[in-house]
Amino acid sequence: MCGIIGYVGQKNNTELGIKALKRLEYRGYDSAGMAIVENEKISSVKISGKVNQLKESLKKTDFSGTPCLFHSRWATHGKPTEENAHPQFDCSGRVAVVHNGIIENYRKLKEKLIDEGHEFTSETDTEVIAHLIEKFYEEDLTEAVRKTVSLLQGAYGLAVISVEAPEKIVAARMSSPVVISVNESGGFVASDPAAIVEHSQKMVFLEDGEIATVTEDGFEVTDMENISQSKKEVEIDWDLEEAQKSGHPHFMMKEMTEQPKSIKNSFRGRILMKEGDVKLGGLDEVVEKLKSIEKLTILACGTSSYAGLVGKYLIEEISEIPVEAGLASEFRYRKRPYGEKEAFLFVSQSGETADTLEALKKTKKKGALTLGIVNVVGSSIARETDAGIYNHAGPEIGVASSKAFASQLSVLTLLAVYLGRQRNLSVNEGREILKNLSGVPDSVEKILQKKEEIKKLAEKYKDFEHFLFMGRRYNYPTALEGALKLKEISYIHAEGYSAAEMKHGPIALIDENFPTFAICLKDSVYDKMISNVEEIKAREGPIIALKTEGDEEIEGVVDDTLSIPKIHESLSPILAVVPLQLFAYYVAVKKGHDPDKPEGLAKCVTVT
Ligand code: M6R
Repeated sequence: MCGIIGYVGQKNNTELGIKALKRLEYRGYDSAGMAIVENEKISSVKISGKVNQLKESLKKTDFSGTPCLFHSRWATHGKPTEENAHPQFDCSGRVAVVHNGIIENYRKLKEKLIDEGHEFTSETDTEVIAHLIEKFYEEDLTEAVRKTVSLLQGAYGLAVISVEAPEKIVAARMSSPVVISVNESGGFVASDPAAIVEHSQKMVFLEDGEIATVTEDGFEVTDMENISQSKKEVEIDWDLEEAQKSGHPHFMMKEMTEQPKSIKNSFRGRILMKEGDVKLGGLDEVVEKLKSIEKLTILACGTSSYAGLVGKYLIEEISEIPVEAGLASEFRYRKRPYGEKEAFLFVSQSGETADTLEALKKTKKKGALTLGIVNVVGSSIARETDAGIYNHAGPEIGVASSKAFASQLSVLTLLAVYLGRQRNLSVNEGREILKNLSGVPDSVEKILQKKEEIKKLAEKYKDFEHFLFMGRRYNYPTALEGALKLKEISYIHAEGYSAAEMKHGPIALIDENFPTFAICLKDSVYDKMISNVEEIKAREGPIIALKTEGDEEIEGVVDDTLSIPKIHESLSPILAVVPLQLFAYYVAVKKGHDPDKPEGLAKCVTVT
């Protein structure tokens, strides 16, 4: 979950490196560092703290050459100290390594290296890589890296520079993303396209087991046996402007505000309104197989898993295919039977979440058909699945997922109609759902205009220490997502519950200090929800209800209300989640927290 940049070329190294690191700060941000080969030695600056501190420290230097490496860290082994910050070095200080991932067998390797006389200065797993390269180096840095990574178990995206090879950067990948790019501006290595999209929109994604040698003029990718690999460039379809805050105080606000556009982008060109059907080019190759599947299992983590849960309701209802939805992190350790006609769907914004990727690998080994709903083009999950649908939501930088969730729900709706039309869903039924989906961007826009109202509620409720979010059916996952948003950025204890489950235990917690956010829309479970709200009221719990516009009935029952436009029940989570996101955001900001960088969390969880 760290950010990596490597550069070799004629541009100002520190300016380029810091700018790129700032774009990756969402991946890791507890310490940072850089190293550069200059005048036949490696110079380096490392800090414990944020990238701005590294920027300040670099002002005191006059580093100008390349190759150079930059890194922002999210600590896994060892505290976020200067010593543990990357780059990590060998004994002689002639090899520098930056790394994202976890080396699982580092203790054994370290013990052996210490026996052989190597001296370690950090608590990191990464440092063994530098010492192994030192040990294996003869005449070729790439070869030394190849020998090194052949001994590593675990995950790594890494970049290496050495005094002995001042014209190159060597990069390698195993279960942790690495992109490279070479053009007239020089050679780049990064852990994420966002870091270098300013300099290049054409990138090469390394596969597991590949090693890249990058110079100012070109690159070569080889495998573990030193066989040259031919690589295709992938065109990145978003630009720098999209990866910036564009005047918003936080990425999260920018991304919530972008939702009408990102939802529109998710269905643009895919809706066949006349036919009540959907065109999903990414599934063309597996269209026949999809016609005969008898079960679908949706796997994901965090927010994406809640989208998966909404997907279960949608797909079961619209296409009549039985769906299991669960956590990839649990699934990967489960032993369960596989149906012959079962397909698996992996939902991930980043496409790099380690548990989701591992669950995907497991199902592939079983020979199952695998599909993806992924936002980041060219990411591991997008590449590993048999077929898939991109979200086209643009880069999501804020740690708390917002626009990705909304666009996942939109894509899941498309998929449900697609599968439904292969089965019993009529043209008219398909059309009805798609018409509702087409109206979602305007309704989200209307909800976004209620920011001031939501801000006031945030002020009123921000000092409570606990919060309950409850909903039923389609909006049970929305309640889970509302609770996750609040806890991850405001640090308030929040629980998401199915309203029906309250009386099986949790209602015991409710009193005047435990408020509830109830998703109480005019839909098939409205009356049930009202009863659940009454039960909370009977225990003096304060209640904010999310209601359908025009519903007056609920006003007398609850303390506060927020309304959303009327919509087909199956699509209601896309609208209902928006006020919950805004509420969490304003509570976090009012409590003085930075919603983009919650303590101890990283945007992309590439460790398991
Ligand atoms: O990139 P992914 O969608 O695979 O990420 C999954 C989760 O790590 C992510 O949704 C996480 O829960 C967010 N912090 C939630 O806001």
